Amino acid sequence: MMKKILVAGGAGYIGSHICVELLNEGYETVSVDNLYNSSDVSMKRVEEITGKKLKFYRADFLMEDVITDIFEKERPDAVIMCAGYKAVGESVVKPLEYYYNNLTSLMLLCDVMRKTGCKNIIFSSSATVYGDPAEIPITEDCPKGEITNPYGRTKSMIEQILTDIHAADRDFGVILLRYFNPIGAHPSGLIGEDPEGIPNNLVPYIAQVAIGKREAIHVFGNDYDTPDGTGVRDYIHVVDLAKGHVSALRKMEKDGGLNIYNLGTGKGYSVLEVIDAYEKACGKKLKRIIDPRRPGDIACCYCDPAKAKRELNWEARYGIEEMCRDSYNWQMKNPDGYGAFEHAKICFS
Ligand code: NAD
Ligand code: WQD
Repeated sequence: MMKKILVAGGAGYIGSHICVELLNEGYETVSVDNLYNSSDVSMKRVEEITGKKLKFYRADFLMEDVITDIFEKERPDAVIMCAGYKAVGESVVKPLEYYYNNLTSLMLLCDVMRKTGCKNIIFSSSATVYGDPAEIPITEDCPKGEITNPYGRTKSMIEQILTDIHAADRDFGVILLRYFNPIGAHPSGLIGEDPEGIPNNLVPYIAQVAIGKREAIHVFGNDYDTPDGTGVRDYIHVVDLAKGHVSALRKMEKDGGLNIYNLGTGKGYSVLEVIDAYEKACGKKLKRIIDPRRPGDIACCYCDPAKAKRELNWEARYGIEEMCRDSYNWQMKNPDGYGAFEHAKICFS
């Protein structure tokens, strides 16, 4: 039985929600993050939500000695690897930083795991590895496609690296979770997404318009081959996504191996449908402006989540209403994200 799980990138948007679900399920949880794109306030909030103790180390996965010390001390049974840079546009401008941080962190982590005898890893991959998908809905058998940015390529490369490591050592269990579009926040409104500057992604942008921080939503293109001409995506509530990791751990406890799962709802919503749903959630009309297409975007992307249901006994429970409700609740309660709060002094190491 697995008891202790290390969440790499645990202070971030998805990592903090994973920590909540792990603690709720009784796992000892160790979060490791260098706080490059996060705040340790989220770690305190995780404890507030769960009423349980979380162990947090502020550390960088590029520093192998430090990470080795943490593994020797903590001896986790499995790692959930969420640490990395994730902004698509930025990765085009700073490819070296993205390849260096995302690939080197992963390789050093695997080396530390090998040295300290930890043989289970769950990796945060992305639907981006499918490129412009060859089939809709996307199953895990859909071939990986041509990826248009360095960020996405790091995901695809890491999937390959982990596959090769598994091929060389069959006891090294790997689960690749391909996330679709995670949105929303914990229903408590205590943890959520805290983008720096202008949000790159649709729902964080809408959230800032809803609370009056920005004036209008820019719709990137209305001439796609979709029912209303705007891009269609498979949005998934971040709490459902986090629960998917607990289900993946349970699968790993039973059988190791190499497995790939799509984590999405299987339902696509257009940009305009998401804005409509958000308007209902916040009770206001939101101004929208039609802009040209964003380079690199595809028309339509949603998954077939049947494999995760069959093999992980997991399926998304929340719909677009709850996703928008919880996003708005978080944004209202934390208009400046974690920024307005004094940095909590909870670095334990
Ligand atoms: P996030 O930026 O909120 O979390 C990533 C965390 O990793 C941050 O807290 C950051 O400080 C930390 N980090 C980065 N480099 C590190 C390093 N070298 N050492 C230690 N910590 C480091 O992002 P997120 O949205 O929570 O995403 C988590 C993972 O899921 C990422 O790998 C991302 O690529 C992947 N993913 C995200 C989405 C999405 O839409 N949010 C979709 C698919 C996949
Ligand atoms: C959704 C839709 C846009 C912003 C990205 C990454 C992907 C994954 C998830 C990490 C699209 C439109 C957006 C805006 C808009 N991340 N849009 N106005 O591009 O599907 O996925 O996040 O792995 O790799 O590429 O998400 O939220 O940016 O866009 O009209 O201000 O909203 O064109 O149709 P995307 P998104």
